[in-house]
Amino acid sequence: MTQNHPLFWQRLLQQAQGLLSVSDNRITNAANLSALLFQELPDINWAGFYFLHGQQLLLGPFQGKPACASIDMGKGVCGAAAMSGKTIRVDDVDEFDGHIVCDAASRSEIVAPLFKDGKLLGVLDIDSAQHGRFSADDETGLNALAQVYLDSIE
Ligand code: SME
Repeated sequence: MTQNHPLFWQRLLQQAQGLLSVSDNRITNAANLSALLFQELPDINWAGFYFLHGQQLLLGPFQGKPACASIDMGKGVCGAAAMSGKTIRVDDVDEFDGHIVCDAASRSEIVAPLFKDGKLLGVLDIDSAQHGRFSADDETGLNALAQVYLDSIE
């Protein structure tokens, strides 16, 4: 099933629900969800988590090239999503003031903030080497997927 198929995200959400139902541990489920995203989403080069520790986002489970170990709140796309509490979709990372380069090949990015019981837990970040890779449907799908993850953990 291709990315543009209307059932693509529905199927991915169902897969995620199944995969995450066997554990309620945030690291375990973040690791498996990163792997699922990296395997199933076409044309991406990084998928993973940053978790809030104090005033910094620290690298969590991910798939892709080694990445920045920590990001200050408000910095980069991840820090901006964490600070604003809103999903941020960037079609061209060169146009985003303060974008943090982890893999120079990355061209576009989407970051969803994660809130558990009203508290910021971290962010879910996906990068692509393709310009404008992420659509409005991807944003809706990623937000739903973030919720599946949040509901799965204790
Ligand atoms: N580009 C991100 C940093 C994280 S990496 O892409 C994995 C940012 O600007 O926040």
